[in-house]
Amino acid sequence: AKQNAPDHDSKQDQLSAFHRSNDGGGLTSNQGIGIADNQNTLKSGIRGPQLLEDFVLREKITHFDHERIPERVVHARGAAAHGYFQAYEPLGDTLSSASFLQDPSKKTPVFVRFSTVAGFRGSADTARDVRGFAVKFYTEDGNWDLVGNNIPVFFIQDAIKFPDLIHSVKPEPHNEIPQAQSAHSTFWDFMSLMPESMHMAMWIMSDRAIPRSYRMMEGFGIHTFRMIDDSGKSRFVKFHWKPRLGTHALVWDEAMKLGGQDPDFHRRDLWEAIDNGDYPEWEFGVQVVEEDQADQFDFDLLDATKIIPEELVPVRKIGKLVLDRNPDNYFSETEQVAFCPANIVPGIDFSEDPLLQGRLFSYLDTQLIRLGGPNFNEIPINRPVCPVHNLQRDGYGRQAIDRGRTAYEPNSLAGNCPVQGGAPRSFQSVATRVDGEKLRARSPSFADHFTQATLFYQSQSAVEQQHIVEALSFELGKCDVPHVRRRVVALLAHIDENLAAGVAANLGIEPDPDLSYLDDYTGTQPNERRGAAKPGK
Ligand code: HEM
Repeated sequence: AKQNAPDHDSKQDQLSAFHRSNDGGGLTSNQGIGIADNQNTLKSGIRGPQLLEDFVLREKITHFDHERIPERVVHARGAAAHGYFQAYEPLGDTLSSASFLQDPSKKTPVFVRFSTVAGFRGSADTARDVRGFAVKFYTEDGNWDLVGNNIPVFFIQDAIKFPDLIHSVKPEPHNEIPQAQSAHSTFWDFMSLMPESMHMAMWIMSDRAIPRSYRMMEGFGIHTFRMIDDSGKSRFVKFHWKPRLGTHALVWDEAMKLGGQDPDFHRRDLWEAIDNGDYPEWEFGVQVVEEDQADQFDFDLLDATKIIPEELVPVRKIGKLVLDRNPDNYFSETEQVAFCPANIVPGIDFSEDPLLQGRLFSYLDTQLIRLGGPNFNEIPINRPVCPVHNLQRDGYGRQAIDRGRTAYEPNSLAGNCPVQGGAPRSFQSVATRVDGEKLRARSPSFADHFTQATLFYQSQSAVEQQHIVEALSFELGKCDVPHVRRRVVALLAHIDENLAAGVAANLGIEPDPDLSYLDDYTGTQPNERRGAAKPGK
């Protein structure tokens, strides 16, 4: 396997086999037949009508009619680039046996797509929103996708709420207004009834949600994952990307003006930087927690609305990411790339985070329809650079021509049938003890919705706090339902009294911290015992 280990260019070499350039050759149909006239349809007589026989017209129009595929149900607008990842030191002994983390001289090819979450494919780059930060590592042991965001926490704790969250964030269904993510009533209604979203609310109302550039954003895996070392020992990790250029934001007024003047602001910035040889870089970091130390925190590591403060567990830098090549074709690469949190390689494993577990199902499921059936892994941008051998067959758009008489295993007829454990390295789920009743619940510390929201707000400088107050006042000002505004201010009062007072004054209402309205909605009661509960207790 090592002989064939992919290098920085291996993905590029693979893609270039599919490149097609207009090199001055004559115009042909898809069947390769030379086209004599690309101006006139075939007619009966000089004034028509057209003839059904006109295969040139039919093929051209039919293909055009089918050019569009569904945009992503979330993260529809994005921009992407190729590059490489390089580890700083071998990590097999101490952290992870993943092949791309062993050799500092090796450059593993990557494809990275940045995105906004809520807007349509044609929406403006600078909208106040979370940014996606999705990285596909083409390793010698298969593709690893780290599908993260530029904010280290998420709105909800359990994937079962994701369709509700997104339905509240997207434009309202009756009139498809408004486009802007956070400036509307359904979004704030949902937030006011989902107090677990309050930590995230602070981040998206902060300057983090209007980045200056994709090159100046942090990235986060958000969930707790596992890394497995050479001896099979598993540790919990959180993943971080730290931009070399530092983390910078626009100011809101700039963001709004740019949204009108140059809706492509972020994708243009990324494209031009790479085109100019000004390659963006990030350092890759991990926060590592020994599995037997996981109970030391007053939050649950499986709760995606909580961070591990870096004061408690510092980020250890283990490698760097460089983006050094723009895609050749937006549709073929940026649009057809299929990231999936379930794409994992030996040396890394999942945690039981209930948000992550739902994601493991959702991405492949959506890609089956977005990319037209079960063979989207054969689309060039999605192909691993290591060999693929299995007994999956047929289906729409199949490219591979599998040879031989059999497609099952075990098999005594074919000498070279792929067998389990036969790949150079095989993935094995880490053996973890699972014990408990089958139930729909979360551990009690999940219900502490405010401690870390407060921590974030109070960690901001005075100017940054003012930006949060202004952003909330602006966004809630667009919400036309008085009780929703009052409820959001009530929640803010549990984060910081000055924050609530500032927003309330701008909205012309009295802050009232009463959250008893939540009693009418199942499953939303916060736990005020800040930090009292231990995971699993
Ligand atoms: C797409 C991140 C939660 C479902 C994406 C993308 C990113 C992302 C970065 C865009 C990938 C690309 O550029 O192509 C996250 C993060 C989450 C989260 C960081 C929470 C920590 C969820 C949940 C679900 C979900 C809970 C569903 C249960 C989807 C779907 C897509 C998507 C369906 C579209 C994928 C496609 O069409 O290729 N997500 N997401 N996400 N996400 Fe998530």
